[in-house]
Parts: sequence; C-alpha cells; structure tokens
Amino acid sequence: MKKILIQARKLMIKLIMLSFCLLLSLSVTADNLFIELVDGKNVTDKNVADALKQLREHKEIKLKKNLSVNPFHHKKETENKLKQPFCQNCHLEKPHQVNQRNRSFLNMHTNYISCETCHLKDEGMKLKYKWLAYGYPNAGQVIDVYSSVHTEAEKVKVSILPRPGARIIPINNDQRMLVFKDEKFSREVENKWKTFSIEDKARLKANLHKPLNKKGLSCDKCHSENQKVLDFKLLGANEKQSHSITSNKIAQFFSRYKKDTDRLKMSDLLR
Ligand code: HEC
Ligand code: HEC
Ligand code: HEC
Repeated sequence: MKKILIQARKLMIKLIMLSFCLLLSLSVTADNLFIELVDGKNVTDKNVADALKQLREHKEIKLKKNLSVNPFHHKKETENKLKQPFCQNCHLEKPHQVNQRNRSFLNMHTNYISCETCHLKDEGMKLKYKWLAYGYPNAGQVIDVYSSVHTEAEKVKVSILPRPGARIIPINNDQRMLVFKDEKFSREVENKWKTFSIEDKARLKANLHKPLNKKGLSCDKCHSENQKVLDFKLLGANEKQSHSITSNKIAQFFSRYKKDTDRLKMSDLLR
C-alpha cells in the first residue's frame, strides 16, 4: 500500500513538472500570433524572387518638403499622437496610391480600420473584429463599446467610432493579430531593413507579406447586406447604423462600376 502511494506521488510530481514545461513553452511561442505567421515557413523561392524584382523596381516615395501649401496627407510628426502600425516602417500613413479611383476612400478607412483588417488572410483562423484604441492613454486595449462615449441619441447620427483614434482590428483567440511600430519585433525589422543586402530584404519582404492579402478587402466585403466580415453588434452599432453602413451608396457604386467612364451620379446618392 505504502509503495503504491509513493509511486502515485512520484507520478503526480512528474505530471506537475510536465505541465510546467508545457506552460512555459506555450507562453513563449504564443507571444504574438501575427509574429508566428511571418516566420517564413511557407515562403517559396518564387515569393522571394518576386519580392526581389519589386525591390529592384521600387521607387522611393519622397514627399516634397518645400511646397507653398502643405500636401494633403503630410502631417507633422508631432501631430501624430496615435500608436502606429508596424506596416508604417515601410509604407506611408496613407499607403494607397496605385488605384486612382479608390485610393482616397481606402486611405480614409485607414483612420478607423487597421491595415490587417483588410490585408490579413483569414485562412484557417476564426477572426473576430473589434475596436482597439490607438490613442493614448489606452492605446493597445480592446474597447468595450457598451461603455463608449456616445449616448443612444447621438449614435443615430454619428459614426460607430467609439472614440477618436479607435480602429477595427482582427482578433484571433483573444489575441490582436497585429504588431505596433514601437514593439521589439518591429524595431528589429526596421533595423534589418536598414542594414540588409537587397537579397536579404527580398526574403524579409516575402516573409512579412506571406500572411497578407495583396488585393485587400473590396468595398462590398463590408458594405453589403449579406457581408460576413464585420459583426456590427459586436462593434456597438445599432440597427440603423448597421443598415446605413451595409447600404452605403458610394461603396455600392464602387462594387458595380467596371469601366473608367462609369460615373457616380448625384441622383444615385439621393435615391
Ligand atoms: C520592412 C518593410 C515592410 C513592412 C514592415 C511592410 N511592408 Fe508591405 N511592402 C513592402 C515592400 C518593399 C513592398 C513592395 C512595394 C513596391 O513594389 O513598391 C510591399 C508591398 C505591399 C503590398 C502590395 C502587395 C505585395 O505584396 O507586394 C501590400 C498590400 C502591403 N505591402 C501591405 C503591408 C501591410 C498591411 C503591412 C503591415 C502588416 C506591411 N505591408 C508591412 C515593405 C514592407
Ligand atoms: C478598407 C480596407 C483597407 C484598409 C483599411 C487598408 N487597405 Fe491597403 N488595400 C486595400 C485594397 C482594396 C487594395 C487594392 C487596391 C486596388 O488596387 O484597387 C489595397 C492595396 C494596398 C497596397 C498596394 C499599393 C497601392 O497603392 O494600392 C498597399 C501597399 C497597401 N494596401 C497597404 C496598406 C497599409 C499599410 C494599410 C494600413 C495603413 C492598409 N493598406 C489599409 C484595402 C485596404
Ligand atoms: C473592412 C470593412 C470595410 C471595407 C472593405 C470598406 N469599408 Fe467603408 N466603412 C466601413 C465602416 C465600418 C464604416 C463606418 C465608419 C464609421 O461609422 O465611422 C465605413 C464607412 C464608409 C463611408 C462613410 C464615411 C463617412 O464618413 O460617413 C463610405 C463612403 C465608405 N465607407 C465607402 C467605402 C468604399 C468606397 C470602399 C471600397 C473602396 C469601402 N468603404 C470599403 C468598413 C469598410
């Protein structure tokens, strides 16, 4: 009997030690799920070759400093009191330029929708979208929309933004699927980007963009009655607000038009 007890105690100790080890290894790897996605495991030689081609062709975007009028999107550093996404190591705050037709709208959305919401592939992940504070003092925290600053009466008119500087971000298993510019991982990338050879930068670019969707979400992915991306209730929107977003005439026009000659008419907006 005594022998069995000792054996059982030994087994218990082993089990406790084992679970400690498991916990330790978990807490190390589950640091940030986004960082796990960019470890380069699934990057192909073609991904790297494409990135190298891009880097060779890439033209540096320089803002002209001495214009008599400030460029529209050129904000002074000091005005920027918000946490910045890690993407801004390399991309501008208003990153969309290529498509002249929709770039202003896409850039407008970066004020309240994170880059990752539109660009992170949701492959195999159950992503939820919630508001995150980018402004201080609560920067980096998920916002409880039901204690937001707007009263029900205000909500009828105003946007669903719960507070200035908040952005809708993807969340997986209660973890934010993004990295901020002031975090260690981001500073390491910044450093590598400055010091790496063009070949190594190509691999880094390929790794970082592997979990990203090049095309981004199109307007109708959020602005249509049967959209599946955003849960407007979870974002604190009432019926009226949800409806006004899903039936947004401008966004619907963007999903419809194909040719450069298509025009958005005032009468469409008033319908
Ligand atoms: C270390 C630098 C760096 C970081 C950080 C970075 N990018 Fe990029 N990104 C690039 C380069 C370089 C290109 C190629 C640009 C070109 O051809 O002009 C690119 C291209 C892209 C493209 C176009 C499609 C493609 O893959 O070429 C998208 C979309 C994009 N990035 C989104 C993002 C988002 C979103 C983030 C943050 C989650 C991000 N990037 C972070 C350097 C970076
Ligand atoms: C509302 C959704 C949305 C958000 C938010 C968004 N993007 Fe995009 N992005 C798109 C779409 C859609 C495209 C494809 C544009 C096209 O070619 O029509 C795109 C294209 C791009 C490109 C390719 C180059 C270009 O000029 O179009 C880059 C780089 C990029 N996004 C980076 C970013 C970064 C960095 C952020 C965050 C600061 C961001 N995006 C936020 C939807 C979004
Ligand atoms: C990831 C989801 C998402 C995508 C993709 C998206 N939107 Fe939106 N958009 C929103 C949300 C959420 C709001 C409401 C923001 C608010 O209430 O402040 C909004 C607001 C708007 C508004 C109203 C702005 C205002 O100040 O009242 C317009 C217009 C609009 N979007 C057009 C577009 C167009 C055009 C595209 C495609 C080029 C697009 N959206 C893509 C989520 C999206």
